Amino acid sequence: MTLKGKRLLLGITGGVAAYKAAQLARLLVKEGADVRVAMTEAATRFVTPVTLQALTGQTAWTDLWDARVPDNMGHIELSRDRELIVVAPASADFLGKLAAGLAGDLLSTLCLARRCPLMAAPAMNVEMWENAAMQRNLHTLRGDGVFFAGPAAGDQACGEVGMGRMFEPEEIVAEIEAFFQPKLLAGKRVLVTAGPTEELIDPVRAITNLSSGKMGYAVARAACEAGAKVTLVSGPVALATPAGVERVDVKSAEQMFETVKKAAPASDVFIAVAAVADYRVKNRAAQKIKKGAGAMTLELAENPDILAWVAAMKNAPFCVGFAAESEKLAQNAKAKRAKKGIPLLAANLAQRALGAEDNEITLFDDRGEHALGRAPKLELARKLIAHIAAMLAGAKRARAKA
Ligand code: CTP
Repeated sequence: MTLKGKRLLLGITGGVAAYKAAQLARLLVKEGADVRVAMTEAATRFVTPVTLQALTGQTAWTDLWDARVPDNMGHIELSRDRELIVVAPASADFLGKLAAGLAGDLLSTLCLARRCPLMAAPAMNVEMWENAAMQRNLHTLRGDGVFFAGPAAGDQACGEVGMGRMFEPEEIVAEIEAFFQPKLLAGKRVLVTAGPTEELIDPVRAITNLSSGKMGYAVARAACEAGAKVTLVSGPVALATPAGVERVDVKSAEQMFETVKKAAPASDVFIAVAAVADYRVKNRAAQKIKKGAGAMTLELAENPDILAWVAAMKNAPFCVGFAAESEKLAQNAKAKRAKKGIPLLAANLAQRALGAEDNEITLFDDRGEHALGRAPKLELARKLIAHIAAMLAGAKRARAKA
């Protein structure tokens, strides 16, 4: 239950995507949130208040003049105890009203009278989205501190294709979860490597490894959620870039090394999650190698150790390594941390982690071992970020004392 006890106001405005708001309400309740719903009149044309009432177990409010609210101050009361207002879908009309500060119905009035932050998940036709007036409104709203979840590009209900499709309910839930993460790394610049590397044998063949990149991407996302400015140097993977993260794609270990070398001096934290190939092919064939008679031998040259290089830099960022071991986890992890000269190492058993959604991680630092247990990779990544933030704060305190 990632949103346990969070007090949300879900605003629904008129658009075909309103049918997805019912699923969003269901997911939010499942994650433990207290979901109060306010709908515009247009929204009730697409989905009924009864549906939302049944899904949230609370009255779905629609009317500015509803006499059931104490003191008949619905436009204020209904948002006062909320921690976040989420408007999904947010129509072009509603965003326009919000940008202009209009308050002609219950939801827009609640938004204008709010004390809590507001997140909007826009949903509209691509031309509406790209219209100069809409873009001007977005600019205004961003300047006013409104958070945006999406939109995405894709097929639209109107049959056109392009930007303006509402984020899926699961994606909006992820954005809400991210919103509530403590901003432990605000103002920090974090560099992350992720995924496998690909070492070419010839133009069509490569040596690589079984890393999916999921753990590294989860770490990048968790760092971003914690308020850091994140650069993700990624080997070839089939994953979407986490929102707000700057991604640089590389293939080989040498390319990854060159990119990291450039970014590391400006970073406060370096987290090496990539499963870097330790060796590359010494004499890469310029043309496809043809089948010969019998066995063949490849000569390999050692790749640079990116993490060890960054850790040895003058004014090195705070370095965190990952160790994928197949046996003797603690023993190998401790030896690896010492060899690389890094303050923190996250160790896991490769056979339990590769490609999976879950992982089981133990952290090793100067104070010993800290088992984070078995959990989804994003949950572990958030715990890792919290541990890094605590170590950075500890180091700062120690410097201040000295
Ligand atoms: N790493 C790196 N560059 C390399 C090899 C590894 O930056 N050329 C980083 C990984 O991103 C990880 C850590 O070093 O954070 C440990 O990687 P791992 O493959 O477990 O260890 P190795 O140092 O390669 O040692 P070994 O393969 O012998 O276990």
